[in-house]
Amino acid sequence: MPDLWAGRFEKGLDPRIRAFTSSLELDRRIALIDVRGSIAHARMLGRQGIVGKAEADAIVAGLERIAGDMQRGTFPWPADAEDVHSAVERVLRERIGEVAGKLHTARSRNDQVALDLRLLVLELLDALDAAVLALATALLDRAGEEVETVMPGYTHTQRAQPVSLAHHFLAHVEALRRDRERVKEARDRAAVSPLGAAALAGSPYPIDPAAAADELGLRATFRNSIDAVSDRDFVVELVFVAALAAVHASRLADEVVLWTTSEFAFAEVSDEHATGSSIMPQKKNADVAELVRGRAGRAIGDLVAVLTILKGIPLAYDSDLQEQRAPLYDAAAVAPAIEALALVIRGVRLDRERMRAATERGMLTATDLADHLARAGVPFREAHQVVGRIVRERLGKGMDLAGLTLDELRAYDRRFGPSALEEIAAERSMAARRSPGGTAPERVHEALAEAHAAFDDRRPPGAQTEAPQRRGRAPGPEGGVPPTEGRNE
Ligand code: ARG
Repeated sequence: MPDLWAGRFEKGLDPRIRAFTSSLELDRRIALIDVRGSIAHARMLGRQGIVGKAEADAIVAGLERIAGDMQRGTFPWPADAEDVHSAVERVLRERIGEVAGKLHTARSRNDQVALDLRLLVLELLDALDAAVLALATALLDRAGEEVETVMPGYTHTQRAQPVSLAHHFLAHVEALRRDRERVKEARDRAAVSPLGAAALAGSPYPIDPAAAADELGLRATFRNSIDAVSDRDFVVELVFVAALAAVHASRLADEVVLWTTSEFAFAEVSDEHATGSSIMPQKKNADVAELVRGRAGRAIGDLVAVLTILKGIPLAYDSDLQEQRAPLYDAAAVAPAIEALALVIRGVRLDRERMRAATERGMLTATDLADHLARAGVPFREAHQVVGRIVRERLGKGMDLAGLTLDELRAYDRRFGPSALEEIAAERSMAARRSPGGTAPERVHEALAEAHAAFDDRRPPGAQTEAPQRRGRAPGPEGGVPPTEGRNE
């Protein structure tokens, strides 16, 4: 079969060049979505009288059969087709005859592929959201058991002040909640149909882009036909949101690696989630966490790739855009990594004793001693100096804050009162930080309740909340938001 554009050319394409320009392999990932888009387009053509009613019906029936074949894995992919668009059209023509050629009326591969990618991005955003939700709820569930668990909080990876382990877990949850907001916003901007922009200038036919958008579950249609086929912001946004969620997961993963070392020994990964060594029988490695860290690096690379491909290309469509597919598809690997980390978090054994013991060494409550003096009216700067001297001299004697007597304290500064020694117990220090968003157990209980309420609907933001009112249903996976009346964004 000749190429889609063969009329204009005297010679056929060099097979080596076809192999280079073809997107057929890349297109397998979007093939079913592409057919869904074609069905919506064909229905619109029929409703608008752009093709005959019977013709539109024949095209839709043929496309539905193709969609079924694709779902079963029995679609007869033509090996030499340039892309999914020509492959589908060719098989359709074999099955329903020349009327298949009417499908491409009032459409270009430019608006077609832009639509496919938007629908794919919506699916990937939903998968990412489900993964982030799984990790956040795993952390939330673990946090519920650890409100009173005191552990060293760190700055510069140095023991800093005692904090509640639940408070630490909830800090990760906050980042993941922002990731979910970003997914929601990205979803909103991606759910705009470019169909009807055609090559770049729009169409001379009486098309109804809003109806096609509505049928596909997209909330709006494009405002500008040139932008509709040029824009790949939605690709960048997906990869960015994925990369940032991966970075958040990576920071948690890094703590899993650190906390499971013999040096820390705060935690032990469950046997089902750890791997061993082929040579060192004693080894137990937090492989999953390491892979999550590594995958964040990959996702950052994907983000740089999609941005760089976009930066130098003039409006409207350019083939450079096809090169975004590899990093876009690769970014889909973030969601399963985050899901795997969620399993690790659910299974990890936490050593409360080790954590508590770690708060005893390293003078984590030195700030509380300074706060004690400050409460007695000593300027904090001066109090800091006094306690700094205590720390230095204790360190010189190889001692910690533990064992200090009130007389010793008063020898440094007579303004130390009798309660100073109680105030430097780790639990007391933690409980004292009851300012909003602080680590005191009473605040952490509130934070847990707030987070539980926020996650109460454990559905992804794209999931349908009410019965959609659709004119027709395209086959294929649910990827859309509840449709509104098709309108311009
Ligand atoms: N394979 C192309 C892509 O992935 C879609 C076809 C675009 N149109 C064109 N005139 N080459 O972006």
